[in-house]
Amino acid sequence: MKVLLIGSGGREHAMAWKFAQSPKITELLIAPGNAGTAEVGTNVDIGVDDHADIVEFAKNEKIDLVVVAPDQPIVDGLCDLLRQSGITTFGPSAAAARIEGSKIWSDDLMTKYAIPTAESVAFSDSRLAMEYGRSKPTGSLVVKADGLAAGKGVILPETDDDLDSAIIGMLDHGAFGKSSASILLAQRMTGPEASVFAFVDGEHVSAEIATCDYKRIGEGDVGLNTGGMGAYGPPEFWTEELAYQVRTEILEPTAKALVNENSSFSGVLYAGLMITDSGPKVIEFNCRLGDPETQILMPMLESDLLEICLSIGENRLDTQTVMWSDSPHTFVVAVSDGYPGSYDTGVEITGVSEAAEHGVVFHAGTKTDDDEALLTSGGRVLGVTGSGETISESRNAAYSGIAMISFAGMKFRRDIAERAIQGDKD
Ligand code: AMP
Ligand code: GLY
Repeated sequence: MKVLLIGSGGREHAMAWKFAQSPKITELLIAPGNAGTAEVGTNVDIGVDDHADIVEFAKNEKIDLVVVAPDQPIVDGLCDLLRQSGITTFGPSAAAARIEGSKIWSDDLMTKYAIPTAESVAFSDSRLAMEYGRSKPTGSLVVKADGLAAGKGVILPETDDDLDSAIIGMLDHGAFGKSSASILLAQRMTGPEASVFAFVDGEHVSAEIATCDYKRIGEGDVGLNTGGMGAYGPPEFWTEELAYQVRTEILEPTAKALVNENSSFSGVLYAGLMITDSGPKVIEFNCRLGDPETQILMPMLESDLLEICLSIGENRLDTQTVMWSDSPHTFVVAVSDGYPGSYDTGVEITGVSEAAEHGVVFHAGTKTDDDEALLTSGGRVLGVTGSGETISESRNAAYSGIAMISFAGMKFRRDIAERAIQGDKD
């Protein structure tokens, strides 16, 4: 079988690494990919936003399955375009992807179907939004851009002035362009966060898996938001009771609600949750696998990824087993100096094969030069996934791997999975 995977980050390297273990795949192509995906398949020089080129390539090359991994092309309707051209595709329709592409649409859906989430009100007029803000206690609201904003569209203001600035910035000054033409003011929740994933095909929801990711640049969760600095799983607070509650109160009702709204979902549903004193509540939904979570999810997935994607592409997930390992995994990301601000690229990276003795190395922003030297090409450069009997062992493996890798200005957080160690018997 010929499979075409769309995307170029660490998530896509992890998916490509997993696909490469599927015996039925004869050719794995990645558009555009990175230096890591080139080791397990063949990169194709087409960008994720070049939809017409992707469709034409898939037709000409007689691709059996296209897998669309990133949010933007999914929300922009690439999966619909591929399916309309008769190509078997893994990934949701643009209609279903509104669950990520519009936080207001998603919030309306949750309210209509009583899916637990923060109480939220939508605004497109800054004056009315600020007036509403005044009626609530200081620091009790979160400001959210309606549309996609590369993970930066949520602001948690501590003062009334910060709240007003966030509202004005988004609604009047177009901080996120079209994406912030409307906003949600959501009640601020507290509690530990988990990213929960399940494969979904209409009303059918596969076994779910929970992980935790780290979004801030600095240790102790300080500083700017990033695309993600690391992840671990399973979370120390994740119990069977909680999993059951999330499944029956959130995942299954959401899949059903989407079917009811003529927006049947097919792909990976990702629920960002906060485990509050009054139970798990949705922070946001995404319509795809998470990055960096996928870099631990793929090593934890015991079933064949190709078989799962094909079964969803052919609307028969109910005939397919999805099994996750519960063995602990930790993933640590190395980033370029200056990230998430500006940074240099083209910096030589060493030690990757030594790191691979401790864990699995997943590339994100990497490329090779004409002499086959490995160079940085992005902010998040690469990372190492460690596994073990305990979370401490998995953490030690990931950090031993990271210690082998070196490039000028390399930075990483030293506290990934640290909070999960308490209570660990090790
Ligand atoms: P999102 O992009 O929606 O995942 O939000 C980014 C981060 O903002 C989340 O991981 C949470 O830490 C925080 N956040 C978003 N919404 C809320 C909320 N209603 N209450 C508390 N924190 C939130
Ligand atoms: N882990 C955050 C994201 O993928 O959006």
